[in-house]
Amino acid sequence: MGTVVTSHFLKNGYKITVLDNFIYKNQFAIQHYLGDANYKIFYGDMSDNGVLDLVSDDITDVIILAGLVGDPITKKYPDISDSINNKGVKNCIDYFNGKGIDKLIFISTCSNYGLIKENELADEEFLLRPLSLYAKAKVSNEQYLFNKKGLVDYAAVILRFATAFGLSPRMRFDLSVSEFTRDIFFGKELLIYDGDTWRPYCHVRDFARLLEMVILSDQTKVGFEVFNAGGEVNNFTKKMVINEILRYIPGGKVNYKENGSDPRNYKVSFAKVKSILSFEPEFTVVDGIKELLEALELGVYDDSIRNKEKYGNYSLTGIEELLNND
Ligand SMILES: NC(=O)c1ccc[n+]([C@@H]2O[C@H](COP(=O)([O-])OP(=O)(O)OC[C@H]3O[C@@H](n4cnc5c(N)ncnc54)[C@H](O)[C@@H]3O)[C@@H](O)[C@H]2O)c1
Repeated sequence: MGTVVTSHFLKNGYKITVLDNFIYKNQFAIQHYLGDANYKIFYGDMSDNGVLDLVSDDITDVIILAGLVGDPITKKYPDISDSINNKGVKNCIDYFNGKGIDKLIFISTCSNYGLIKENELADEEFLLRPLSLYAKAKVSNEQYLFNKKGLVDYAAVILRFATAFGLSPRMRFDLSVSEFTRDIFFGKELLIYDGDTWRPYCHVRDFARLLEMVILSDQTKVGFEVFNAGGEVNNFTKKMVINEILRYIPGGKVNYKENGSDPRNYKVSFAKVKSILSFEPEFTVVDGIKELLEALELGVYDDSIRNKEKYGNYSLTGIEELLNND
């Protein structure tokens, strides 16, 4: 997502400073930006204040996208997850106080809602029921950040992102819409667990646009506010996503089974982000499926099954030294 956000801001004339420790050996994703006079990249960890000193030179706003992202990878590396998603993020929240920035935007997740009843729609006041290590850290960081109100000199904004889809320089095939589309395109027979469970989705380019809207907003409008980020048009069940894909690939083979290992089921209200920021997604899930199918037809992702590690958060190939020291 960071790459799509970078593209958006560079295109709109902003200067961008990026910090990443490339835990998946994902440096390839930034090659396109190198050499751009408005782009600065630092290789380092967000829990290292030495590198944060370098990064924080001449910046006006901070967006915390960095993290160990997703339930499977955090479950696989619980200790590293704790040091990145709990300690690293809180370190940034503390570090950027007193640096004169306007806003610190923390990217949280709609996964925080966990499991809700079929007829309910989770708005920002809805009870948080994080089920995974990943979501528990997000909720803990949200609370930590809220408790800073009146104690920090920036306006904090929390955006609970829906699940991402859409083409990206660091394409992820561990995210449902893209994974299902790619797999059906390549003729794989899919087994989908809990096909009737709801999830909100949002295109990465819409997230980037929303981030710019937040940056341009008055502190009084967004400061210490939480927004669900997405649009109700993209609340889909897994079965609905599959049915859309099958409209383009009618011969696709999909089987369904109940009682999988991921009980999450949440339908989300995006009324607040629409009324306060006038944000509505430009792209639907169907748009995302279509643009990915076009790329697949061009052969852009022909290596994505063979080169699985490159296309998702599967293992921490970029920090082997750290793992070996554990
Ligand atoms: N992808 C989604 O569907 C989704 C949904 C909801 C919320 N989010 C949130 O959006 C943000 C971006 O997600 P994404 O999908 O782009 O994730 P990603 O895994 O593609 O990117 C995360 C980046 O953070 C970097 N990173 C990890 N630990 C770091 C550290 N300690 N210091 C510096 N960099 C570090 C990684 O190398 C990687 O480039 C995350 O905070 C995520 O929790 C994502």
